[in-house]
Amino acid sequence: MKIINPPFVIIFTAFVFFVSCKHDIINDPNDKIADTTKVVTPSIGGTTSSDTVCFNTEILPLFSSYCGSSGCHDLNSHEDGVVLTDYTRIMKGIRAKLPNNSKYFTVIGKDMPPKNSPQMSAANIATIKKWIEQGALNTQCANVCDTTVFTYIGSIKTIFENNCNGCHGLRPGTANIYLGDYASTKSYITANKTLFLNSINHTATTLSKNMPQSGKMVQCKITQIEKWINNGYPQ
Ligand code: HEC
Repeated sequence: MKIINPPFVIIFTAFVFFVSCKHDIINDPNDKIADTTKVVTPSIGGTTSSDTVCFNTEILPLFSSYCGSSGCHDLNSHEDGVVLTDYTRIMKGIRAKLPNNSKYFTVIGKDMPPKNSPQMSAANIATIKKWIEQGALNTQCANVCDTTVFTYIGSIKTIFENNCNGCHGLRPGTANIYLGDYASTKSYITANKTLFLNSINHTATTLSKNMPQSGKMVQCKITQIEKWINNGYPQ
């Protein structure tokens, strides 16, 4: 398991959003703030068999996509003073080992994301719960994935679900791009292949068009998507 730099959080200025994020929850000054100082590297020896949830590759993308979008809990908008785009700020509403006492966890699927926004899957929520139970650590993992698995069901669907669908998972989707099912994703990419590849490789000429804007996905996932495209979008 290699240690990599924490994802680079980009302050973005695009104000393309399709939901209202107005609400009033979460701020309670009396609430205890979890310990944010621990940084560990899981000792997985480069295999995928570890049970350790990685903050950088599993948790941050979920908060960034489903909560930290422009107009909601990003650095510019910070609805209700809540910013969910980096570890320190996310930890303001998380209590290590106590998911049920962690505001930023207990609201998920109830008030947050707002009803008319894409919702996290049960698997996403379970991953966050497990991460909190494991101590809500700032685990930084290089992503290890099997790049021979690149069917839509085998890996691609989950990549979009975890990294993109907080914004592009409900029609019409942010910037009118909907990536919530096989057919729509395939037809969008087919029609916009170069633009799409630049976007996920963070080589777009405009910074705000690099996706996800909160930080480039690990190479392994990008490779899986590229193989999926180059092999004719296997189901
Ligand atoms: C937090 C919200 C958010 C997430 C998460 C997100 N996007 Fe986007 N996406 C946007 C916004 C906003 C734009 C419009 C940006 C602009 O026009 O400057 C956009 C635009 C795009 C574009 C068009 C880029 C262009 O050159 O016009 C593509 C392609 C795209 N997103 C794909 C993705 C993919 C793939 C993912 C996941 C890997 C993803 N997005 C994750 C908000 C998001």
